[in-house]
Amino acid sequence: MLTNKIESQDISSPSKNSGITILAIESSCDETSASVCRDGAILSNYTANQTVHEKYGGVVPELASRAHMQNIVPVVDQALLSANCKLSNLDAIAFTQSPGLIGSLLVGAQFAKSLSLALNKPLIAVHHMQAHVLANLLDEPKPNFPFLCLTVSGGHTQIVVAHSATDLKVIGETIDDAAGEAFDKSAKILGLSYPGGPLIDKYAQAGNPHAFKFAEPQIDGLNFSFSGLKTSVLYFLQNEVKQNSRFIEENLVDICASIQSTIINILLKKVKKAALQTGITNICIAGGVSANSGLRKAFKEMGQKYKWNTFIPAFEYCTDNAAMIAITAYYKYLTGDFSDLSVSASAKAEWA
Ligand code: KG4
Ligand code: ZN
Repeated sequence: MLTNKIESQDISSPSKNSGITILAIESSCDETSASVCRDGAILSNYTANQTVHEKYGGVVPELASRAHMQNIVPVVDQALLSANCKLSNLDAIAFTQSPGLIGSLLVGAQFAKSLSLALNKPLIAVHHMQAHVLANLLDEPKPNFPFLCLTVSGGHTQIVVAHSATDLKVIGETIDDAAGEAFDKSAKILGLSYPGGPLIDKYAQAGNPHAFKFAEPQIDGLNFSFSGLKTSVLYFLQNEVKQNSRFIEENLVDICASIQSTIINILLKKVKKAALQTGITNICIAGGVSANSGLRKAFKEMGQKYKWNTFIPAFEYCTDNAAMIAITAYYKYLTGDFSDLSVSASAKAEWA
């Protein structure tokens, strides 16, 4: 078995500089990102977005892996440069191990493993969804533990209880599509390009959220379902377009506002239920969909109404980024949670 001889490294006395300096790499989907953090403070966070997928209406895995291969060296270089950090200053290398597109994950994983081996520094494997939750610890004010987090991304929708930075439990999740998929698939039906979430957000700002009604699922407990909404949008539009072929263009802003408000209602009803069930009043949102302006506003308003302490990451830390991998890795470093070189990227992984 391969090993990077972590046992022989002096991880208890980090650095020639003061503090623990970690380089983190994120490559789970279509963003290549690298970040340097020292003692939990982000020194740099540099992301290369892949525009190649726009014309295909979704991420093409093969193209994503190729773009990661092209981007990873310049992105890491840029992150180190902006942080004024040399490879020799690093105390650990972190990477997104799962979940995600396997070809994309492998690029970041292999790069991180190679660097760890070359520098003889510990390797830290990070779960992408846990990192989204901990993006809430990147800026002040930080939520106190325990906190609840609604994590809404392109592939996942979860409610998580964070007892500590290394003890996170999923208490609710989607049984089919994720909230981000509900945005993206609805946008696709409307003829908008990928990713459709930000476009629906943009058009919704000028629309009436009560203009059209879409079905809200009745799902027990703290779980979610979004596949019915997509079908409801599809049937509604097919029917309207039959009567008026210009229906979508004439009503785009109202359709977007109505879809968005349905998704927000579904999400926030479950957040309220989770808060009542757990008694936890420190509540966060995270993930790409938490960049949505309507969700951010409605969540803040709900927080004021129920006297919660609410937290939302800065925009750049909502969508995929390496800073959230770095902060998660920092807490793993403190507990000595390292991986050896046999660790493998995984498209799906248990919430460990
Ligand atoms: O967390 P993320 O960047 O990647 C995954 O881990 O999946 O989330 C991507 C998702 C996409 O579905 C995208 O449409 C959605 O986040 N998204 C938004 C907005 N910005 C990104 N959805 C609604 N409104 C936005 N402003
Ligand atoms: Zn993500």
